[in-house]
Amino acid sequence: MGDRMKVAIVTGAAGGLGRAITAQLLTDGMQVVGLDLDDTALRDMHRDLGDRFDPVAVDLTDATQIAEVFEGIATRHGGVDALVNNAGTCFMSDFPDIPAQEFDRQMAVNFSSAFHCCQAVIPLMLGREGVRKIVNISSNGAYNFDVFDPPHYRASKAALDTLTKDMARRYATDKIVVNSIAPAMTETPLFNVLTQDVLDRAIAAMPHGEAMQPAQIAAWVGFLVSEAGNVSSGNVIILNQGRDVR
Ligand SMILES: NC(=O)c1ccc[n+]([C@@H]2O[C@H](COP(=O)([O-])OP(=O)(O)OC[C@H]3O[C@@H](n4cnc5c(N)ncnc54)[C@H](O)[C@@H]3O)[C@@H](O)[C@H]2O)c1
Repeated sequence: MGDRMKVAIVTGAAGGLGRAITAQLLTDGMQVVGLDLDDTALRDMHRDLGDRFDPVAVDLTDATQIAEVFEGIATRHGGVDALVNNAGTCFMSDFPDIPAQEFDRQMAVNFSSAFHCCQAVIPLMLGREGVRKIVNISSNGAYNFDVFDPPHYRASKAALDTLTKDMARRYATDKIVVNSIAPAMTETPLFNVLTQDVLDRAIAAMPHGEAMQPAQIAAWVGFLVSEAGNVSSGNVIILNQGRDVR
């Protein structure tokens, strides 16, 4: 059993960060199940990446679909060694004019999706060998109040980080470790939600004078998923070039 290929799930696999995380985990020798809304992009990725990449189109705001998808993963792969909850977006309406529907959607995409994936993955992780990994992709927006992030986005990521800590505590003796990575400005299609002015100011506030790259964040995910990550749990790792040190 020692050389069995490990299985990772990456949500939002077709996005900017998701593609980089998928590439990192494939390079590290894992099988990667990629979940995303964007079926066409997933199929293109499958063509490029080959059969170690298992694409699954799903709307992660729907808990019933998540349950079905994880049943399918159990059947095809027998279990799961790592889950990266990366799917997310940022809605830009501002307080106090955020439509109720937008608030619900923000929490559903960024928080509820991860919550339901965590619930679904635990039975597939219990009984696997070694230390299993959950990595939640949070955001600096939950901690830095100088930048543009709207309050529903901040709150969705703060909720995610509290889930990280709860699960880290809950599953410590089962050897399931749970951490968050909270990046600042990282160059992905998500930049398109920002006006040029907001984007320029946010990048200028980065100490290196430039945005971070998806592969840089993915390397940290790879590190946590590797054996080096076995001893870290319940941590929120902030990646921002040192922007918020006071
Ligand atoms: N880019 C940044 O600067 C930055 C900074 C901090 C945190 N983050 C976080 O990183 C994560 C990845 O963001 P990104 O920058 O790669 O954005 P992205 O828009 O490039 O990718 C997000 C992916 O999630 C998928 N997705 C969205 N809603 C979904 C749903 N309901 N079901 C299934 N898939 C869905 C999208 O189809 C897309 O492929 C997000 O959680 C985001 O909040 C990004």
